[in-house]
Amino acid sequence: MTIQEFQTVCSQLEQEYTAKIAAAADLNAVEELRVAALGRKGALTELLKNLKDFSIEDKKTAGPLGNALKAALTAALEDKTAALSAAALNEELNRVHLDLTLPGRPLARGKRHPLSIAQKRMTDILSSLGFTWAEGPWVEDERHNFDMLNIPLHHPARDAQDTFFAQTGSPLSMVLRTHTSNVQSRFMEKHQPPLRIMAPGRVFRNDSLDATHSPVFHQIEGLYVDENVSMADLKRDLSAFMKGLLGDKTEIRFRPSFFPFTEPSAEVDVKCVFCGGKGCNVCKGSGWIEMLGSGIVHPNVLKNCGINPEKYSGYAFGMGVERLAMMLVNINDIRTFYENDLRILKQF
Ligand code: DAH
Repeated sequence: MTIQEFQTVCSQLEQEYTAKIAAAADLNAVEELRVAALGRKGALTELLKNLKDFSIEDKKTAGPLGNALKAALTAALEDKTAALSAAALNEELNRVHLDLTLPGRPLARGKRHPLSIAQKRMTDILSSLGFTWAEGPWVEDERHNFDMLNIPLHHPARDAQDTFFAQTGSPLSMVLRTHTSNVQSRFMEKHQPPLRIMAPGRVFRNDSLDATHSPVFHQIEGLYVDENVSMADLKRDLSAFMKGLLGDKTEIRFRPSFFPFTEPSAEVDVKCVFCGGKGCNVCKGSGWIEMLGSGIVHPNVLKNCGINPEKYSGYAFGMGVERLAMMLVNINDIRTFYENDLRILKQF
């Protein structure tokens, strides 16, 4: 091939492919043309094979011509691709009518259950007071639920009237734990003082369901054991806890009471948050609301768990989550928590 023939073929190819590209109907056709013109076996590649037979002088003419042709065809292919894509998009937009002014579909958002809200508020405050999280099993042996806690065999709380006994196939006699105090025995048999734990969780009593009782409810247990822990520590911490929960002005009082696992024992009341202590139907005219049981851990309990009562002492308390939750969210029927009526649960 002469250099003149090379030049002629170059301009023929340019004309031929520019026209074909302009006429291409879709992106597939454009791709076929790219392969035919610029591909490994394409027309331009074939043409450039002639270069090797040219003189140096001719190569200097032919090389730039070939490059220019390649650039021109590449540009034409890109322009055509862009034009066809834009046309396809326009066509789609004209076909599908999107009304951007329509409101979006509402998403149903999950919420915390009011009991979880109450429990979290309580455990948040306790953890700010230095209590760490502990847990125990719901299905518990009588030893951890009763014996180790100094609850004697014939104590009325062990009666079938209060306790659900569980058939588990275990050689131990098993119950559904009647309180979170089982976590005391579980934790102390594994850990020596100093220890400071909170144990929130579900507990079970053989009660029938009414406005103030439920066979399944929740407690939070607190336990602090170290050297020289006294009633004064208990009062300081519970007072801080109740102020954190119900407000800085909250007042508490201790009433002597009895629990097998504490000595002395005290019931803790808060000044009624509804009437400020004047007496109303929530506090049944007394001005105080009973909140929790507490006391100094009985030496027998420490001993049963392998802790030396001569060296260590501790306080413990247990409180119902439902009762506090009812006050916090202003509900007067405990069943509201378990019926899971979304219209109610959504309000919290
Ligand atoms: N376990 C008791 C109950 O379920 C509550 C309780 C009272 C827990 C005194 C304690 C405590 O830790 O010291 O009624």
